[in-house]
Amino acid sequence: MEKILITGGAGFIGSHVVRRFVEKYPNIQIFNLDSLTYAGNLENLSDVSDMENYTFLKGDITDEDYVNRIFKEQLFDGVIHLAAESHVDRSISDPLSFLKANIFGTVNLLNAAKEIWKSDFDGKLFYHISTDEVYGSLGESGLFTEETSYDPKSPYSASKASSDHFVRAYHNTYGLPIVISNCSNNYGPNQFPEKLIPLCINNIKLKKPLPIYGKGENIRDWLFVEDHARAIDEIFHKGKVGRTYNIGGLNEWTNIDLVKYLCQIMDEKLGRNSGESEKLITYVKDRAGHDLRYAIDASRINDELNWKPSLKFEEGLSKTVDWYLENQDWIDAITSGEYQNYYAKQYKS
Ligand code: NAD
Ligand code: TYD
Repeated sequence: MEKILITGGAGFIGSHVVRRFVEKYPNIQIFNLDSLTYAGNLENLSDVSDMENYTFLKGDITDEDYVNRIFKEQLFDGVIHLAAESHVDRSISDPLSFLKANIFGTVNLLNAAKEIWKSDFDGKLFYHISTDEVYGSLGESGLFTEETSYDPKSPYSASKASSDHFVRAYHNTYGLPIVISNCSNNYGPNQFPEKLIPLCINNIKLKKPLPIYGKGENIRDWLFVEDHARAIDEIFHKGKVGRTYNIGGLNEWTNIDLVKYLCQIMDEKLGRNSGESEKLITYVKDRAGHDLRYAIDASRINDELNWKPSLKFEEGLSKTVDWYLENQDWIDAITSGEYQNYYAKQYKS
């Protein structure tokens, strides 16, 4: 039976990837390696955790002995690597943990894969999941292509850029079969409420202020998480070894327009007066080094793998709001503990 290691499978995107693979490929054994940081939550996978082709491994990708041991024991055929520290604001207050998890953790996995596969790389694949943030910030026009030079601006994006370089270096130097994808901002169920959309959904529900950094003019290109998981599936199975694929939503929004739209959707769903939730919008101090605009040219993945986003933003956002409203226990469990301290520190006035 083929064995695939998915790292970071208890997180937001990872849990959607694990679910897709476990359900779609009963003949592939899926191993989910996750250390369960504040962002990892096994509840995200409660519907598939009893499936026969699913195994959870609690471990840290920075733990060399542990990583080497599981590669030796399981002889994985492929790796889909998502485990990372993922929040820009946290990277600003604690860059070193981003260096450890995102750079050291990735190199650790690369070493283990190289060691186990070195006698025969045929049929093996190390798939590294990355972000469009490695390309830096766009002005008002233009799109990131796979040829855009790296120009990361935050400690988070610098750590992801570095990990991308290591992955390519292992391909170039040792011949390790790799593929990389760089995706735009994801949204959808199970996203930790430190990120803009779930944070605002939760605050609108609780009638708490909606903190908009700066003037709210920064632009992001939003993609529904299940569309990202589908792109990952396509790239893993059909992508060209050594290649990079950009993945994007073709869906640019300024933060302020997005939050206003979210307020409108939630006013309707919660039976509030039109315009009521918008009053919660509060402009706060800008993020340090805040990238102005990200936008992806996804023509390569469209041309080569026939992938494009399937869900319209209106539908995706409505589905996402419904999920958060229906999963009060999930959000309560997350926001009851350490989240309160994080929130107080991040949004102190
Ligand atoms: P997330 O923060 O929701 O989840 C990260 C997961 O990794 C968690 O389950 C966490 O427990 C695990 N993890 C962290 N450090 C670990 C370690 N040292 N060892 C083992 N497990 C560890 O992140 P996400 O938003 O799902 O992002 C997943 C990947 O996709 C990341 O590599 C991120 O850079 C990339 N990405 C995210 C987005 C986005 O919009 N969220 C967009 C493009 C790319
Ligand atoms: P975020 O969800 O943190 O993703 P990223 O920084 O990786 O793009 O933020 C999305 C955008 O929303 C970004 O421009 C920062 C902004 N933002 C706010 O205005 N207020 C907030 O409270 C947060 C978390 C983000």
